Amino acid sequence: MTLRTTLTAVSALTASLCLTAPALADPPRLETKGDTQQLIVNGKPMLMIAGELSNSASSSAAYMEPHWKRLKDMNLDTVLTPVSWELIEPTEGTFDWSSVDSQIKAARANDLKLVVLWFGAWKNSMSTYVPAWVKRDQQRFPRAQLPNGQGVEILSTFGAETLKADQRAYAALMAHLKAVDSKDNTVVMVQVENEIGMLPVARDYSAAANAAYREPVPAELVNYLVAHKDALVPGMRRMWLERGARTSGSWDDLFGGGDASAEVFAAWHYARFADQLAAAGKAAYPIPMYVNVALNRPGRIPGEYPSGGPLPHLLDVWKAGGPHLDFLAPDIYFPNFVDIVNGYKRPDNVLFIPEAHNASNPVAAANAFYAIGQLDAIGFGPFSIDSVDEEPGGLKDAYGVLQQLKPYILDAQGTDRMVGFKPRQLYDETLVYEPETRDVGPYRFTIAYADIQKPVANPGADASQPGTTAAIAAAGGMIIQTGPEEYLIAGQGITVTFKPRADASALAGIDSAWEGHYDATGKWVAQRLLNGDQTHQGRHVRLGTGQWQIQRLKLYTYK
Ligand code: DGJ
Repeated sequence: MTLRTTLTAVSALTASLCLTAPALADPPRLETKGDTQQLIVNGKPMLMIAGELSNSASSSAAYMEPHWKRLKDMNLDTVLTPVSWELIEPTEGTFDWSSVDSQIKAARANDLKLVVLWFGAWKNSMSTYVPAWVKRDQQRFPRAQLPNGQGVEILSTFGAETLKADQRAYAALMAHLKAVDSKDNTVVMVQVENEIGMLPVARDYSAAANAAYREPVPAELVNYLVAHKDALVPGMRRMWLERGARTSGSWDDLFGGGDASAEVFAAWHYARFADQLAAAGKAAYPIPMYVNVALNRPGRIPGEYPSGGPLPHLLDVWKAGGPHLDFLAPDIYFPNFVDIVNGYKRPDNVLFIPEAHNASNPVAAANAFYAIGQLDAIGFGPFSIDSVDEEPGGLKDAYGVLQQLKPYILDAQGTDRMVGFKPRQLYDETLVYEPETRDVGPYRFTIAYADIQKPVANPGADASQPGTTAAIAAAGGMIIQTGPEEYLIAGQGITVTFKPRADASALAGIDSAWEGHYDATGKWVAQRLLNGDQTHQGRHVRLGTGQWQIQRLKLYTYK
């Protein structure tokens, strides 16, 4: 690989970052802990209490200037930020790292970590972040085509030069990150492309794509299906088994033809492209790399949504085609958050939510508590975090609580000492808020969401009013066991009762329940000792609506 990097520009920026000959630290990595994986940065486990910048924010250091501190003040520790191909390689082979280095410098100055989003060949299906020299050369960088031959503004996965050029730019970015950041580990992960997927048809219909579609399904994909036959996601299992679980043949033979097979074909080729990109990047600097996905609405057919991304029904195709990708990550803007994240947390896929409802949406914080508490998510990031005006009781407060709990969360990840909860919502926004139970240590906890003694006459849309449907949707929390009978309970809008698990005839009582917080040094600062009305005379723990908080609870068993 030859890189005609603009050396003078690089050395000037490198000097301004004080990055002369950094000593190598271990690169950020994923490491197994119990039944999950943790992100290890600077040798220590890390939880990304994060937010993603709006798309164009990072293209201007001046625009971003006031935001870095604001994000830190909102209790974030990680910012997901785009790095675009058009800005780093405006002329082929000549790299300009100013947009990257200014972000690293600002993040460091504000004690923030970064997840870099590589806006390369594809961003939200389209190829609008590629440099003009790519956009304008359709011979060398062919477009995907509709069945009638019309090109779309989406690069074809069948352009060999496209893969080579994207790999070269991406590998140069990773080499640059290694050069300027391997000592500090400010950049902790990289997202490969953004929301890959074909529109407005299920697959590319260019001549090269049509020829590839006539080829047999590759052995790597078939072998994966065979090896994982009993564990395939239901959509894929059905599609393949219904056609007799064939181990050779065309895409139509194995997957039934039509848009469904066309989408599997598209997914395979997108996965192979992203995998080869990740492989080239990791050869330069091996830090965790993942692909994110725009989810599909129920009832839509391929092409009506970005087709072929790592969607719930295509996870197996991506796992087979993307061995260099550390995990696949859902962007979640739909109400059925709980069901979605449960599909993406798998033994072979750690959970990370790079994008979610904007932070001003009251459910955002509860979603973070659920994903982190229940499913050991390594991070959570609402979208367009730079455009959020924080309100009391909102994400800032919830993130403040998560920051305080971070050491306890990291310690409990991969064990059965931590649970999370929030009311489940269906795609159509139906709220399922019957009380839920969770077993933690010797006690069974029952979590009720209404947070009121009596039903509200007119349930409505005000999330700050206990008992309204909006408040219930925004309720949630987590429980972490910290000792034999000791627990941290954090959240809002919940009422929690408890029973010993071992003996059905025994009862649980509150030894003590303290509200309080952890100070900047991690020391517990107790506030009120909660008793009497605050615990309903020892019957429950209650974390009221509208204020994210922590209580330290000690239980005991009696008969
Ligand atoms: C999802 C994309 O990944 C983001 O870059 C942004 O376009 C948002 N959608 C907008 O809602």
